[in-house]
Formats: sequence, C-alpha cells, structure tokens
Amino acid sequence: MADLPEQILLLVKDKNGIGTDEVARTCGCQHQNIVGAVKSLQALGNLINAEQRTSKHWEVTKEGLEVVTIGSHEARIYSLVPESGGILQAELMKAIPNAKVGFSKAMSAGWLEVDKKVEGGPKVLRKVDTIEDNVKQQLEQVQRGDIDGLTDKQRNDLKKRKLIHEVTVNTFFITQGTEFSTKVTKLETDLTPEMLVSGSWKEKKFKSYNFDALGVMPPSGHLHPLLKVRAEYRQIFLEMGFSEMPTNNFIESSFWNFDALFQPQQHPARDSHDTFFISDPANAHEFPMEYLERVKKVHSEGGYGSQGYKYDWTIEEAKKNILRTHTTAVSARMLYKLAQEPEFRPVKYFSIDRVFRNETLDATHLAEFHQIEGVVADYNLTLADLIGVIHAFFKKLGMEKLRFKPAYNPYTEPSMEIFGYHEGLKKWVEIGNSGVFRPEMLLPMGLPEDVVVIAWGLSLERPTMIKYGINNIRDLIGPKVNLQMIYDNPMCRLDKQ
Ligand code: PHE
Repeated sequence: MADLPEQILLLVKDKNGIGTDEVARTCGCQHQNIVGAVKSLQALGNLINAEQRTSKHWEVTKEGLEVVTIGSHEARIYSLVPESGGILQAELMKAIPNAKVGFSKAMSAGWLEVDKKVEGGPKVLRKVDTIEDNVKQQLEQVQRGDIDGLTDKQRNDLKKRKLIHEVTVNTFFITQGTEFSTKVTKLETDLTPEMLVSGSWKEKKFKSYNFDALGVMPPSGHLHPLLKVRAEYRQIFLEMGFSEMPTNNFIESSFWNFDALFQPQQHPARDSHDTFFISDPANAHEFPMEYLERVKKVHSEGGYGSQGYKYDWTIEEAKKNILRTHTTAVSARMLYKLAQEPEFRPVKYFSIDRVFRNETLDATHLAEFHQIEGVVADYNLTLADLIGVIHAFFKKLGMEKLRFKPAYNPYTEPSMEIFGYHEGLKKWVEIGNSGVFRPEMLLPMGLPEDVVVIAWGLSLERPTMIKYGINNIRDLIGPKVNLQMIYDNPMCRLDKQ
C-alpha cells in the first residue's frame, strides 16, 4: 500500500480536490496524521495547494460511545426487570450507575410501571413485551455521519443528555499544485562529492533548510582547557595587583601593531607571509596625528638620542589593517593612553587574548593562538626589576628555576628569552620572551624620560599542552578536537605557591 502522502495525492487526483477531514474518513486515519502528511507534501514545492478551512461536525461523546456498546441507560434498566414478577424498585436502583436517569426515561417511554402496594416496598414491572433502543440507534446514525436524518428534537435531546457534542476542526482543502504528481520524489538533504563529480546534482531537488528547527540542547557546557588555564593565569596576575587591558579587537592597524612599537616598515614580520592583512576595510583612518608625526620622525630621522632607521616612513603602510600579531599592540595603546593623563602614575597591566600569524602550520603552531602579557610602568625600573617580577610570576606557577638568554625584539632593549626547568619533563623549556621597552617607543608617546616600562609575554597554548599532556596543537583547538577530551579534562590546578 502507498504511504500516506502518496495516498493523499491519489485521492486529490481522483476527486479533483479533497478535504483533509474526508481523507481521514476515507483512510481511517487520525486527522492529525493527515495534516502532518499534507505539511510534508507542502515542503516538497508546489505539488499541492492547501487551503485552510474550518468545519463543524457532531460527534458522539464518551458517554455516548458507552451507550452504543452496551445500550442506553433506559434499555439496560428495562432489561434488568424480569419478564414476570418484576423487581423491587430499591434493588433496581442499585443495579447500574445511571439507574435513576434510565428509570425515569423508561417510565416516560411507557416501558415500565410501578406497583406501590406490594409488601417490602414498591415493585417495578414490565409494561410492554419488547422495546426498541432508539437512543442507541440514533447515536449509531450520528457515528455514520447522518445527523441530518434526526429530527431537531431528537438531536437536542441527545445534546442535552451529553451523548453528542459539536466539534470544530481546522481542515485543509487540497487541490493539485502547479507541480502536481502522484509520486513523491524524496528531496536530497546532502550534497555529496559523488553528485558534484557526476553532475547529478543538477537534476536533484534539495530540501530547503529549516532555519526554525531547534538544535539539540546540550545537557551542560564544559570549559575548554585553554579557558581553564587562562582563568589560572588571570588569577595570578590579579593576586599580583595587575589590572586587565581591554583586548577585544582582533583587527588592529599596522600603526599600533608595528609602528608604535618602533618596528620598521620594511621589517620581515610586516610581510604578508607573516601577517594577515584585512582586505575590507583595508585601512584604518583614525590616529592621534601629533603622536603619529612623532612616530614617523623617530623612524625616519631618529630623536630622543636615537638615530632612527633612516628610511621614508609612509602613513599608507601604517594605515593597513591586519589581524593583530601580538597583544603588545594593546599594551602600546594603553601606554599611549597612560601618557596622555595629566600626571604619570605607575601601572601594572596584563592581558590574555588571541593573536594571529600567517605561519606554516605544524604540530605546535597554528595561525592563531593566545598570548599572555604582563607590563609594568614605573620610574627608574631596571633589568633586575624585570627578572624579579618574572621570578615572582613563575614562582606562582610552580616554576622556580629560570634562565634568561639575550634576544632581540624591535621594541625592547635589552630583550631576554625566558627558560624554565620543567620538573615533569626534566628539561629546560622556553617559556617566554621579555624586555625593557625602548625609549624610541615610549618617548614619542609622551611618557616622562625617567619612566621605564618592562614587559614579558608567553603563549597560553604551551603551558596548557604541557599541563594536559597534549602533544599536537590540533588536538587542543580546531576541527579535529575530540570533544570527549574537553568533557573529561579536569579543572586546572597549577602547582602554585
Ligand atoms: N610581543 C612579543 C611576542 O609576540 C612578546 C613580548 C611581550 C616581548 C612583551 C617583550 C615584551 O613574542
């Protein structure tokens, strides 16, 4: 047998249009199921037209159904009265639940009579030999859909006795649509590589997206290991009196990411091989112009005791929008802002957020990762202060053995790579980069000459991978991550002191 949608299509064709209520009667199905099938046919395009209608009809109530099966109350009462001799009225009244109604109806129909002069109480006797259960017959007639065959009185009586009631149903009248067919072609839900290769997708019909479908509600959320470790680092900074910098801009101008940091415009890091450039909007337009002029000057001519890089600095290069390559761009903005305050005040800032580099991807490098950065600005700080604060920071992480190696950053002098002895791995691992920001960066901002700013940075991914024993960064972030790993990993407890 054809399934429901096809049965409906056949009926629509045969009858040249049909109501869903009639379909339900014809197939002996629930109206609700027919409406469901009509909706699924509508989703297939223009197979059918469905016009909503409301229709009213009479139905037998639950009590009425009981009458249809076991007879009306009056007929049952009549049958409980023996053919000869009768029955005590008191006894008859206890025989069935609706005895009272049945008795009075049977009496007014003239089926029974009462003999009051009997010993032991009134007795009920049959008055006629046979009866016809009209109520039951009328209800059967309603069930057949022929309520019009009843007189108004009969209908009103049944209604008053709550044996029938009128119900309103929303139905659809279905006619053939412009793409009518009695065959249902199943719509494709997936575009497969095979369809693309063979070109068969051109002939296929695809199911349209249901944007209203609700997703499966996850039973609970889980924090990614990176978030757990970030919370720990944030806590350490806060304990040390640092305040968090606003890092909510992934897109940065080359000016703040590079120029403000005294990174020359020809520096290889500013190449598209290392940096993602934004095509739209390609340029940033708002800069503090006086400061920009000082940055231009220190790059091209020098100043503040520096001879600069001696090249033609262009604003076009500085305007270029990029995905920030380090959070030091945010530190530069914050230090410039600090320098604009009427009076200098020492600050301790930190940030933990995402940065982007156009790198070759491998087991430990992705094109985006997170940096943790600490910045301290105060009068007359020295390299010893930098080493001291780094020691204090890593001690809180449980790393006490540190080594520093001279390094180079365009914006710090001196610069140091930080190595830590990893007690678990039993070896020295590179854990960060650091330095003292150059006067060529700080003085154009307007910071006082005796203010020194020290800073250090590290990635969030590296300690997270070590902590959670993950060897390949692709197992930590990206499409290959096993969600079970995220569900199962415990909270992060660094061996803090
Ligand atoms: N910005 C540096 C990097 O991207 C880290 C750093 C921060 C170095 C602060 C020195 C001072 O690796």
